[in-house]
Amino acid sequence: MSLRISVIGTGYLGATHAACMAELGFEVLGLDVDQAKIDSLSRGELPFHEPGLPELLLKHIASGRLRFTTSYEEVGAWADVHFIGVGTPQKAGDNAADLTYVDAATLSLARNITKDALIVGKSTVPVGTARRLQQLVIKNKNDGVDVGFAWNPEFLREGFAVLDTLTPDRLVVGVENAEAEAVLREVYATALAANTPFISTDFETAELVKVAANAFLATKISFINAFSEVTEAVGGDIGTLADAIGHDTRIGRRFLNAGVGFGGGCLPKDIRALQARVSELGLERTMRFLSEVDEINLRRRDRVVFLAEDMLGELAGKKIAVLGVAFKPDSDDVRDSPALDVAARLFNAGADVNVYDPQANANAAQRFPRLNYVGSIANAAHDADLVILLTEWAEFKSLSPTDLDGMVRGKRFIDGRNVLAMGVWQDAGWDITALGHKHLDHQHSGLTRPPING
Ligand code: UDX
Repeated sequence: MSLRISVIGTGYLGATHAACMAELGFEVLGLDVDQAKIDSLSRGELPFHEPGLPELLLKHIASGRLRFTTSYEEVGAWADVHFIGVGTPQKAGDNAADLTYVDAATLSLARNITKDALIVGKSTVPVGTARRLQQLVIKNKNDGVDVGFAWNPEFLREGFAVLDTLTPDRLVVGVENAEAEAVLREVYATALAANTPFISTDFETAELVKVAANAFLATKISFINAFSEVTEAVGGDIGTLADAIGHDTRIGRRFLNAGVGFGGGCLPKDIRALQARVSELGLERTMRFLSEVDEINLRRRDRVVFLAEDMLGELAGKKIAVLGVAFKPDSDDVRDSPALDVAARLFNAGADVNVYDPQANANAAQRFPRLNYVGSIANAAHDADLVILLTEWAEFKSLSPTDLDGMVRGKRFIDGRNVLAMGVWQDAGWDITALGHKHLDHQHSGLTRPPING
């Protein structure tokens, strides 16, 4: 008989995992403590934008393979494998990961599992958590029931969550015995049949793989953005530099796009939590470079605000069109979004800010309601003194000067993602600059770069 799977936590990770497990042919029960979430998921409604996921959800609610509940008793009596996909948000103060939800989910499972089962952690956690949670399970599980424990980090990207779950680059499992590994091989049989690398290791390595991957990606972005600071000072073309080093297969071109930097629910929080964890281990110096990675990333936002001031003289009373507030294209997520941060800072400096994002306006308005959210590029650009592109949505990448010429009050443009052909805009009479490029046309302050913090 096919394995029955429960997924604890129905946020981004959990909802995707549950729907994809149903797509692979398993019967799945998704659990969340939030009744409203369970009600809307049961109706096939997702609280976030993710291509392909609504279709999978509806398909498997209809097929009967996917159901949702708030009852630990129900999942504990029913499932053979319990995936934990609850959030591990950043704690205020020390930036460490808040493990309240992971701990609560593990404890509730342990107490309610009444048939032999395997608990598999998927949330991103500080190294050492899996071993501690395993002890929690051993201490709290019911007598006579065999409850195994494993760790299986998740590498999905927003916008590609379904694809990444159904056809992952690699599978990493932290296990302590052959039984647990066999169960996970059965869960991932479809990917294994397609020769997906399957890395079976200990708990600590499995936990660390996840944070190492995110720390590396963040470092790669800040590396190219640090070179942006140099090309902004001396001239040069950051895109060509990235292409040229990217041809070296040891380096690779991906994640070398210079711009306003990384955001989202994972990279910023994960590099901070990793530093907090290694400091706890007495290894303060080891991950200190990640503070630089974080700072370089945040300085990109300063640079955009500086350029806006430089181009406009002062921000107070000026009308600025911001194109994009999502942390990346094809997402409605504004968590730690560089774009929304910049828009808010321009507003706080007195500018009148019009924002247009194809998907993220509503989420941004919840976090920062005082900006003018509008429904099109044209509405954002109407009478603007300056247009700033901050998220590289396809409809912004294909913009040409003629799309905006008659609308704006001043032909000024900042390309915060390095996606437009600057020459074309300059030829059409625009004062355009991009991150990573020397700003030649500074009309007011005459400065060529913002003060570098620290
Ligand atoms: C990331 C990891 O890629 C994924 O493996 C992990 O599971 C979760 O975190 P995600 O947050 O969805 O995924 O976004 P990602 O596509 O990695 O982009 C992160 C940020 O980096 C975005 O703000 C993006 O705009 C920025 N970025 C990315 C750049 O600034 N330059 C680049 O070259 C690439």
